[in-house]
Amino acid sequence: MEEVKEVISMPRIGDQAPSFEAMTTMGPIKFPEDFKGQWVVFFSHPADFTPVCSTEFLAFAQMNEEFAKRNVQLLGLSIDSVFSHIAWAMNLKEKTGIEIPFPIVADADGRVAKLYGMLHPGESSTATVRAVFIIDPNGKIRAIIYYPLSAGRNMREILRLIDALQTADKHGVATPANWVPEPQVWEFTEENTKVIVPPPTSYEEAVNRAKQGYEYIDWYFCKKKLS
Ligand code: BEZ
Repeated sequence: MEEVKEVISMPRIGDQAPSFEAMTTMGPIKFPEDFKGQWVVFFSHPADFTPVCSTEFLAFAQMNEEFAKRNVQLLGLSIDSVFSHIAWAMNLKEKTGIEIPFPIVADADGRVAKLYGMLHPGESSTATVRAVFIIDPNGKIRAIIYYPLSAGRNMREILRLIDALQTADKHGVATPANWVPEPQVWEFTEENTKVIVPPPTSYEEAVNRAKQGYEYIDWYFCKKKLS
């Protein structure tokens, strides 16, 4: 019998963003049609209720206004249901006071993740890597970044890349290494030196998490300083 191989697509820079329809935390979308005229940062995270992803969502949420000023819409995705996304966004709001102001695509069957090459089986066959697709107002993919499961992204670099692409388009120029639109006052603080404690893997561990001396945000989301 002939072997049936699953086709994994890997969109590339310069391709039109593959089309899909999906449910999000802010209702159904047709992508990229519904976002024509806007830049989109379409990013995947491994899973809801995981600590590194939580820090990324909080960082994206806090920089949402900077993205909006540049006509950029943020759009998240993971292989989770819309109910899980909603519960996680509500949990982040309850624990930190920060609201997630952008939609998150529910991709429980991994259909969109496969279409965008967000699953890298050598890293995980069930959780999407930290992929970032920057898509321009004509629906063309202009940049792609991949990060592994263990390292949270640098949101300032994503914003810098948007600035570089928009500057190149506007002025017909290219931008050199370490280019920034204006001198930056980097706001990295003590907070940025902390690391994430791996989440508990049993109910008992989860219940005991609060007593272990970590910086405790919730049972799955604790930080510490390396000594
Ligand atoms: C995290 O976001 O903390 C995470 C998710 C999947 C694997 C490793 C870490």
